[in-house]
Amino acid sequence: MMSGTDPSSPSSARTSKGLMTRRSSKPSLFSDGLVFAGGAGVALLVFWVVSSFFSPVTVVDPSAFPFSVSSSAAFPDLHDRDPPGATFYDDPSVSYTIDRPLTGWDAKRRDWLRLHPAFGGYGRERVLMVTGSQPGPCRNPVGDHLLLRFFKNKVDYCRRHGIELFYNTALLHPAMNTFWAKLPMVRAAMLAHPEADWVWWVDSDAAFTDMDFELPLDRYRDHNLVVHGWPHLVYEARSWVSLNAGVFLIRNCQWSLDFMAVWAATGPMSPDYDRWGQLQKAEFKDKLFNESDDQSALVYLLLKQKDRWGDKIFLESDYYFEGYWVEIVGRLENMTAKYAAVERQVQELRRRHAEVANGAYGRLRDGHLSGEDGAVSGPNGWRRPFMTHFTGCQPCSGDHNKMYSGESCWEGMQRALHFADDQVLRDYGFRHADPLSGDVEPLPFDYPSTA
Ligand SMILES: *[C@@H]1O[C@H](CO)[C@@H](O)[C@H](O)[C@H]1NC(C)=O
Ligand SMILES: *[C@@H]1O[C@H](CO)[C@@H](O)[C@H](O)[C@H]1NC(C)=O
Repeated sequence: MMSGTDPSSPSSARTSKGLMTRRSSKPSLFSDGLVFAGGAGVALLVFWVVSSFFSPVTVVDPSAFPFSVSSSAAFPDLHDRDPPGATFYDDPSVSYTIDRPLTGWDAKRRDWLRLHPAFGGYGRERVLMVTGSQPGPCRNPVGDHLLLRFFKNKVDYCRRHGIELFYNTALLHPAMNTFWAKLPMVRAAMLAHPEADWVWWVDSDAAFTDMDFELPLDRYRDHNLVVHGWPHLVYEARSWVSLNAGVFLIRNCQWSLDFMAVWAATGPMSPDYDRWGQLQKAEFKDKLFNESDDQSALVYLLLKQKDRWGDKIFLESDYYFEGYWVEIVGRLENMTAKYAAVERQVQELRRRHAEVANGAYGRLRDGHLSGEDGAVSGPNGWRRPFMTHFTGCQPCSGDHNKMYSGESCWEGMQRALHFADDQVLRDYGFRHADPLSGDVEPLPFDYPSTA
């Protein structure tokens, strides 16, 4: 099912070239400045809270739903109530901020879980997705619209896979801006979610383009950090784009807190920030700017402290853990055609079904795909890429890398987001009229046998 996306192979020279340039214009999460929305936002919030007080509330008898495990307000089941005894939350020395060390986290988490058994994973590891964007409006006139659609895409994926999602727009450490902002968020999210086994950081400009694919968590059993990357590019080519730090999966454990503390200490909150930038510039021949960035820092730590961290870091290259959009978007239409051809042969794949049942259909389709020629991940296959990352497009600021036209970024995003949306809308009975159109049309019965 998984196959190599090896950028050093001759057939994918394009990939390698793309890789080397994919972040030469600096990535940004909070780069457009830090304008907090003031009065209007507060007024809107007050209105919303007040108006929701006036909405009619349906009283539901939870005992009528013996199989419900929900702990939402509509289904109170007391699982979320804290016991009177102290938990780590009651310890004033435990800090959410990344500049304060935290020890004994594994025991603290374990103790909390013992007091809240309903939040155990029942054998399944819990994943919390964390993503976000800057506190203020985007400079690009369509930036906020694009961020909304990238966000919608993540909500769709999470709803279909039972993953909780935290979208953050606040800068949690004043110095840790731009691409560094995610580390304080991940740190705070780990403490806020002791029930989560993994925190999955996903950049705002990355979109899920295979709504059925599930993280192969078993594969990462012995690891604490998973990133898309290639060992030979890290250790031999010594390139700052040998991996991508825009999407990563990190285990909620003490190792991760320790690693993030070391990682963050090469960023702008450190008095040695300038020196780290110089060290990275000297180490990576392909790095063109002199500030220390999180991605170079990660590669640097792998190179210089491999013994300390390397064995817990998984460089995933067997599928598009995140994929470079330039090598993907032109191929999406053909993938749609290939998937439709498979579905025309298998009546069961064409059965309409409830959205909650789509996991079983995804697995069924997987079974049929595995027998097909070329149904592999990577630049030479036509399997849907798990995630397409618009590195260098900067949808919010509009300040895209000059090696692409703004038009190709915009068109690429439309294609990827519609491609993903078609997978979602299918369960609602619609699809996009064409890959670049926001208009939709109803799907005929027994689609795609007839269309
Ligand atoms: C980084 O480069 C800029 C110009 O590109 C320069 O002004 C700045 O002083 C440099 N900073 C360091 C720490 O070398
Ligand atoms: C899409 O498929 C057509 C027909 O098989 C082929 O000619 C074309 O090169 C493919 N396009 C891409 C981008 O792979």
